Amino acid sequence: MKKIMKLLGCALFCALTIAAQPQLPEGRGKAEAEKLCKGCHEISRSVAPRQDRGGWYNTMSKMAAFGMKSTPAEFAAVLEYLSKNYPAGDLLRVNVNTARAIDLESVLSMRRSQARAFVEWREKNGPLKSLDELKKAPGMDPAKLDAKKDRIQFE
Ligand code: HEC
Repeated sequence: MKKIMKLLGCALFCALTIAAQPQLPEGRGKAEAEKLCKGCHEISRSVAPRQDRGGWYNTMSKMAAFGMKSTPAEFAAVLEYLSKNYPAGDLLRVNVNTARAIDLESVLSMRRSQARAFVEWREKNGPLKSLDELKKAPGMDPAKLDAKKDRIQFE
């Protein structure tokens, strides 16, 4: 019985872990990206950067140096997929109630530590409804927020 419970617990945990994986956008190269980019770390980490094709080429070359195995065709397909779906300059706006720390960093030019502190705070104190509320949140610089207010969304 104990053994069965253990197995059940594990199955549940695994199912939850899989469910928590973010969905990648559909498109050519998606299957290859899922194959290549989740062997060593979470796929959410793989697709966190926003960069141009050259940047993605560098990232993928780095992963190959870390031991990522791929055929040339897979490498090319994933490079196209990432460049198309996670391009540089794509992120112009953020929803401050749902954005990841990394997106707050790039859109609002926050420091990593500030963005993380804000996300932690938001989990307990959010959601925010206005720019004035946001200005009072930890890590926020009111003058910078005014300058970037066109990029900020609350829902
Ligand atoms: C063979 C293992 C392996 C595979 C497969 C792999 N990575 Fe990585 N990746 C690493 C390691 C090792 C690090 C950095 C060390 C760490 O985990 O802190 C890393 C870190 C990263 C980072 C963080 C920033 C950086 O440049 O260090 C990004 C982005 C990334 N990987 C993207 C990808 C993408 C995209 C793919 C698929 C094309 C991929 N990884 C597949 C091993 C791998």
